[in-house]
Amino acid sequence: MEMAAGTMTGKLVRRGSYVFPPGLRLNLPLYLFHKFFKPGNPILLFEHLRRYGRAAHYRILWNDVVLLNEPEDIREVLIDKAASFGKDRTQKRMKILLGEGLITSDGETHQRGRRIVAPAFHRQRIQRYAGQIVELAGGVGATWRPGETMDIAAEMMRLALQITARTLFDTEVTAEIREINEQVNAIMDLYNYLVALPRAELLLKTPLPGMRRFRRAKARLDAVVDGMIGARQAEMESSANSAEARGDLLSLLLAARDDGAGGDGLKLTDDELRDQVLTLFLAGYETVANALTWTWMLLGQNREAEARLHRELDAVLGGRLPTLEDMPRLVYTAMVLSESMRLYPPAWAMGREVLEDVRIGPYALPKGTMIFFSQYIVHRDTRWFPEPERFDPERFRAEAKAGRPRFAYFPFGGGGRQCIGESFAWMEATLVLATLAQRWRLELEPGQWIEPQPKITLRPKSGIRMRAVERAVCRMQ
Ligand code: HEM
Repeated sequence: MEMAAGTMTGKLVRRGSYVFPPGLRLNLPLYLFHKFFKPGNPILLFEHLRRYGRAAHYRILWNDVVLLNEPEDIREVLIDKAASFGKDRTQKRMKILLGEGLITSDGETHQRGRRIVAPAFHRQRIQRYAGQIVELAGGVGATWRPGETMDIAAEMMRLALQITARTLFDTEVTAEIREINEQVNAIMDLYNYLVALPRAELLLKTPLPGMRRFRRAKARLDAVVDGMIGARQAEMESSANSAEARGDLLSLLLAARDDGAGGDGLKLTDDELRDQVLTLFLAGYETVANALTWTWMLLGQNREAEARLHRELDAVLGGRLPTLEDMPRLVYTAMVLSESMRLYPPAWAMGREVLEDVRIGPYALPKGTMIFFSQYIVHRDTRWFPEPERFDPERFRAEAKAGRPRFAYFPFGGGGRQCIGESFAWMEATLVLATLAQRWRLELEPGQWIEPQPKITLRPKSGIRMRAVERAVCRMQ
């Protein structure tokens, strides 16, 4: 749906010395019977609020919430005035799953985690994983059969999970982690409904069936991760192999000390280590899997772009498997992925909470206000992306990109909390797409209804059925 941005006018809302953007007059729960209010799908609400223009305000019970749509305002929150903001309550609530890992922590805990984890994600260090990524992608491609129909979302989840397990943790606990992740996802759905309730965490301690299931799933997840860490710790103690020689993220984290500027020189404690490992595991595969899934769907719908992608792959690779060195020449491949993450950003919204009274653009917001901005919404702003629903990788030619403000497009966030796995994600997505699209085309099965579902990440609600066609065969026909 193309949005009519700014078509609803409204006055700034003043309360004492505070100034809020225009927005909903009534408390959000009172809109229960309106089309835009579906607690399971906040994108509908954000699309509705987009009509107020630059920003919109609403209240959930006694909480003020502001949606920002203007790149300059988003920049103020993430960069210029970042110190006035912390993670919002929704993300903090994820602590019950992820503990004090990078995503959920704030302040000094976050900075210490970032100092220790960041070196392991340095562009040069992660490059060593390229060969394994291509090998695993080739392995999945080898299981496809011409004419076979599959759920490409499930295939990409399986592959991304294998890649994360092997490259970052040098482990094969794939089956177990997948099962547990599915359980956890199912339960996290509940939290879309509980966002507004302060101290909803208390519910977890109750014997409600959903809560009991969550507790069980979380205990299993912790046990798997603890087992993985324990085994590696024992191995590192008993062998002369340094973390550097083994080279995976887990070994590096076990050996790392907080030696950066302002660091305390100490290693991560066992609890810190578990929280960071769990965070990286869960953050690392579901996002990339979704980016690839939506890309296959878009290529299936856009034959011309697909043909251009094939031409590039044939010209650059000439039939051999891709390597890290090919990446700078896979220009169109990267443009396809960028455009896919514009339309279907795996991280579809971000949230912050105001820690001290702050001014953003023309607004004066009190401490406690929740702020949201949505990649899904901002990436469809017609000022920067005319005909926003059209898939057009040309929007990501260098010249076109140069004409847009920094936060017109931000699939990986920005500022001090920018995605730590961005380089890894780019490498993984580019090499997987190049490996598989070189050999296979995927055609959408007709007659299916594909619906984006905004959970923690943006995924297709009921998967996407696609038919595999081998490219060598296509050419001969
Ligand atoms: C296409 C793939 C990915 C997308 C779209 C994505 C998106 C994002 C976004 C938007 C944020 C910022 C959240 C915020 O500031 O509120 C973020 C943070 C983060 N991402 Fe990613 N991500 C991807 C892949 C990865 C991978 C592969 C890893 C790790 C292996 C990872 C680990 C993290 C972590 C740990 C954070 C928290 C960083 C911090 O707060 O210091 N992500 N990601």
